[in-house]
Amino acid sequence: METLDAIEKRVSVRSFQPAPVGKEDLEKLVDSGRRAPSARAIEPWEFVVVTERPMLSKLGQIADTGGFIAEAGACIAVFCKATKYYLEDGSAATENILLAATALGLSTCWVAGDKKPYAPEIEKLLGVPADVKLISLIAVGVGAKKTKQVKNRSLKEVLHWEKYRGKG
Ligand SMILES: Cc1cc2nc3c(=O)[nH]c(=O)nc-3n(C[C@H](O)[C@H](O)[C@H](O)COP(=O)(O)O)c2cc1C
Repeated sequence: METLDAIEKRVSVRSFQPAPVGKEDLEKLVDSGRRAPSARAIEPWEFVVVTERPMLSKLGQIADTGGFIAEAGACIAVFCKATKYYLEDGSAATENILLAATALGLSTCWVAGDKKPYAPEIEKLLGVPADVKLISLIAVGVGAKKTKQVKNRSLKEVLHWEKYRGKG
């Protein structure tokens, strides 16, 4: 799939069939994440791929805005060492994974990490060191039903040529 098609097709999916995701696909996703740009090329990221149902269920229980992780085929937890730009770097890696998954025909949803009160519990559960922060939990799998895309703000509304034009 072309990159622009993947960008257009990506949608957050929050219900999954219980089908597993192949190891090769999961490796491709992490490979796409690690190729993201990072400030000063530090690449502060680490990726924990969870495929076992009991652990997926626990993640879904702890992450209250991501209960559907319990049903997903896999979850990729994106972590970053606490560098100056860790959140931007980890977010770039997360978006790469979402787009790569779309290109592979897999469904995903980005579940918040860094700013959530549950982040320390997930970090502890997955055994990451103290200076490593949760950026996102990515539910990955085969979608259970066709998901309607959000109607994005129009290009006309968000594009400002040369200078910001205010709304009066
Ligand atoms: C930083 C960030 C955190 C998000 N956290 C959650 C979350 O915790 N739970 C959830 O269901 N969706 C979460 N989302 C997905 C957004 O709700 C979704 O992207 C938005 O509704 C637009 O829909 P779309 O992704 O289908 O275009 C998050 C997205 C971002 C970028």
